[in-house]
Amino acid sequence: MEESLLDLNRLPQHIAVIMDGNGRWAKKQGLMRVRGHEKGTKAVRETVETCAELGVKFLTLYAFSTENWKRPKIEVDTLMKLLVSSLRKELPTLQKHSISLSAVGSLHLLPEKAQRELKEVVELTKNNKNMSLTLALSYGSREELTNAVKLIAEEVVKGDLELDDIQEATINNHLFTKDMPDVDLMIRTSGEHRISNFLLWQIAYAELYFTDVLWPDFRKEDMLAALKNYQDRERRFGKTSEQL
Ligand code: FPP
Repeated sequence: MEESLLDLNRLPQHIAVIMDGNGRWAKKQGLMRVRGHEKGTKAVRETVETCAELGVKFLTLYAFSTENWKRPKIEVDTLMKLLVSSLRKELPTLQKHSISLSAVGSLHLLPEKAQRELKEVVELTKNNKNMSLTLALSYGSREELTNAVKLIAEEVVKGDLELDDIQEATINNHLFTKDMPDVDLMIRTSGEHRISNFLLWQIAYAELYFTDVLWPDFRKEDMLAALKNYQDRERRFGKTSEQL
C-alpha cells in the first residue's frame, strides 16, 4: 500500500486499536507468551509514529482490559513492567512528534510504579499538540458507563442536575474519554471479530476493520491498508447516499 494513495484530508480523526494476538504470535515461534508482548511494543511504537506522521489527531490503544487482571500473575507483572519501561523509553519519541499522552481506565488499580511513571509522562507531554495518544489501562467500557451513570445520578440526587436535562452529551461528559471526539475507525488485529468491552459508547458510528495480522507483526503498511479501506467506505451516519 502506497502512502500516496491516501487522501490525507480525509483521515479518521480518532483511531482506536485492539492490539490482539501477542500470545499466538509467541506460540507460533515457540516462545513464551510474554515475548509476544515484548515484541508488541515495537508495533506500538511504529503505529504511534505512523499515525503522528500522517496527521491523525487521536489514537487510543487497548493495552490492558479489566478482564486482563485474571491472567496468570507472571503475565500481568510482565505487562506492567513493559508499560513502565516503554513509558521511559518512548518519552523522546513522544516529544519528537509532539504527542501528548493520556490514559483511561481504573488507573488506581495499576501498581504504584506504573501510576507514577504514567503521571510523569502525562505531565511532561501535556502541551504537545500534534497528536493525542491514549492508553486504555485496566479499562472496561461497561465499567466506564456504570461509573458515568453513578456520577450523573449523584448530581440528580444533590439537585445539581434535572432529569430532563440528561442528554447524550451529559453521558459523554461523564466518560473517561470526555475530551475526545467519537471513534471514526476501530481496528482489531489477529482475526478475532469482537469488540471486547472497548469504547462501546464511543464507536456508535465507527467503521470497524479486522485484519488477520497478529499484533507483533502489525507494520506501517498494515495501518496504511486499514486507512485505505476506511477511505473507500461511505459513512452515511443514517442518511442516504444522495443526502451526503
Ligand atoms: C493482546 O494479546 C494484547 C494484550 C492483552 C496486551 C497489549 C500489550 C502490548 C501490545 C504491549 C505493551 C503495551 C504498551 C502500551 C507498552 P493476547 O495476549 O490476548 O494474544 P492472544 O489472543 O494471541 O493470546
